[in-house]
Amino acid sequence: MTPFESIKDQLDQVQGRLLDLMHSSDPLVDSCLRQLSGRKGKLLRPALVLLSGQLAGRVRPVHIDLASAIELIHTASLLHDDVIDQADVRRGRPTANVLWGNTAAVLLGDFLLSRAFTLMSQDAPEAALTELCRTAETLCTGELKQNLFRSRSDITEDDYFSIIESKTAALFACSCRIGAMAAAAAEPQVTAAGEYGRHLGIAFQIMDDLSDIRSTTDTSGKTPGTDWLHQKLTLPVIHWLSSDPTQKESRLRMLSELDIEHLKSHLQQAGSLEYACRAAEQHSRQAREQLSHFGPSAAAEALSTLAQNILA
Ligand code: IPE
Ligand code: IPE
Ligand code: MG
Ligand code: MG
Repeated sequence: MTPFESIKDQLDQVQGRLLDLMHSSDPLVDSCLRQLSGRKGKLLRPALVLLSGQLAGRVRPVHIDLASAIELIHTASLLHDDVIDQADVRRGRPTANVLWGNTAAVLLGDFLLSRAFTLMSQDAPEAALTELCRTAETLCTGELKQNLFRSRSDITEDDYFSIIESKTAALFACSCRIGAMAAAAAEPQVTAAGEYGRHLGIAFQIMDDLSDIRSTTDTSGKTPGTDWLHQKLTLPVIHWLSSDPTQKESRLRMLSELDIEHLKSHLQQAGSLEYACRAAEQHSRQAREQLSHFGPSAAAEALSTLAQNILA
């Protein structure tokens, strides 16, 4: 059974809702939005809203709106991220910045963000709206901090974790929290659901950063090696630089000259890829531990499987 089996119908409803939301009365803008809505992502965050709802009670109509708003915010953040990272492929297709230029891509991201908040302001519970507003701020802080650290070799593991908690894990946590809140869960359960999401998000971003270094083929629908090309130092590289103080200077000198293949073999030899894998495993385990705050259910099982699958 796939982890999304028990929410398949609701996830289809979210998909339908997203198609309705990604349109404009202006034909030119509408044609861009249509092209964007034609490329489906994995719908991981909407699935978290729905599964957390199931975990804490039951899925209600408001969960569909919340899940749709979260996916709009996520898609907006990808449009902005691809401009920042100068990425040219997303979800297996040319990015918005390649198709229409950086300015249009940023404005399309702003449009989707605004649409998410319009949707939320209509009938979402006030507490969920507050969570989403705060999380949108946190996402920007994370991306901003990452960009301020770009090409800085003094970045520490703590800096790295602080960045990924903000830019990625915060939206995972928010998805789980508002899913549980909309199912009328008590505060300790909302907190446990949020912690599940936070740990899952950290593991997810570490694995994404590893796959940017390790993958040779374009199985992710993105271009591998992008982080390295744009001097984004991720956990394996940070570990490699700091793991042996006697080598730090020479590794720093090497850093600017290595290509991705040579970097990969250095990281492998120093055990830095392994180190990052272990960190992701640890957060996946911590995510699963949070599920003990809930009774056994199909949703708990699905969330547990999801946390395991993320390590693949
Ligand atoms: C991509 O997220 C951004 C990261 C946090 C690494 P996803 O891998 O969930 O993107 P889509 O929505 O499936 O394309
Ligand atoms: C995640 O970081 C971006 C966001 C959370 C918006 P990445 O830059 O690694 O994401 P990808 O690899 O481009 O999807
Ligand atoms: Mg990126
Ligand atoms: Mg990435």
